[in-house]
Amino acid sequence: MIASWQSPSNIALIKYWGKYAPQLPANPSISFSLEKCTTQTTAEVTPGNGKISVLLDGAPAPSFLPKIQLFFKAIADRHPWAGVMDWTISTHNSFPHSSGIASSASGMSALALCVVDLAVQLGERLPAKDFRKEASVLARLGSGSAARSVYGGWVVWGKTDSLPGSRQEMAIPYPLPIDPVFTTFRDTVLLVDVGEKSVSSSVGHGLMLHHPFAEARFAQAREHLVKLQSILASGDLSAFFDLVEREALTLHALMMSSNPAFLLMKPHTLSLIDRIQQARKDGLDVGFTLDAGANIHLLYPQTAEPFVLPLLQGEWAGFCKEGRYIQDRIGSGPISLPSSSVK
Ligand code: DP6
Repeated sequence: MIASWQSPSNIALIKYWGKYAPQLPANPSISFSLEKCTTQTTAEVTPGNGKISVLLDGAPAPSFLPKIQLFFKAIADRHPWAGVMDWTISTHNSFPHSSGIASSASGMSALALCVVDLAVQLGERLPAKDFRKEASVLARLGSGSAARSVYGGWVVWGKTDSLPGSRQEMAIPYPLPIDPVFTTFRDTVLLVDVGEKSVSSSVGHGLMLHHPFAEARFAQAREHLVKLQSILASGDLSAFFDLVEREALTLHALMMSSNPAFLLMKPHTLSLIDRIQQARKDGLDVGFTLDAGANIHLLYPQTAEPFVLPLLQGEWAGFCKEGRYIQDRIGSGPISLPSSSVK
């Protein structure tokens, strides 16, 4: 039996930072899925005893094994059949490993979709009863943010009273109205520091366990989500950039004020932030968000593209490592691939 899926990375606007077992979020988060930054995975199973081999771009990738073994352990209750199979998992990322873009959201969601696909082929029962819901639960158990990558467009993960249907166990497509300006958004990843290791997610979430500002942060994320809901409905770009930039800076402020402390922004990150905010003051619809690293995610609506591109190709690229950036945008979510298309 064989299954192949392509699944996207996603960028969070309200961040998941802090969790409790079994990989449930301390606050709700919202992201949009990307179009071009994707992982393609093929999983092939034969009857066996749970042996796993992983290939990246056709070559054995034993360094991926520990995380994948943990994933299979975490899903064993829901999918006991997986433990009596031998697995060959072949994977390929559309973005270079050196780009500093985390592959856990796209990688774990692609693998989760393959597992659910195989479960259906084998006639197994899906505990969540629905293909995407089950894939989101499994992806979450692999990596929290991966729960959001099983859908395209805007996606919410984590229960909050302000959003009907939101759940801790799985992500859901954003259920409320969105102004068209937010449906064609761009995310250009400015690669400020590609070599430098960002804080690993397990360390990062762990920092929130005894963080002096943890409770205030979790409450703030909920408030931000309520505010974002009316911003998404009204199309208020200036309120949007103001809110998502505060979210990004809060994430870094939490890391800077944790024990041990992490300062992940680089001088070029700050130079870019300065210029992006100045461009906005000058009337351009552009803003940024950050992951747990030095790179900038430049956010803008499609209508701003003709004005942003000259800045990008001009001065701004000069702050990126070797002038590199990745142009991406909101994408429509995972796709099932013809089997064995990933070598
Ligand atoms: C800053 O999903 O990578 O990107 O659940 O431990 O795998 P694990 O963490 P992960 O954390 C993502 C953190 C973030 C914010 C976000 O994507 O919401």
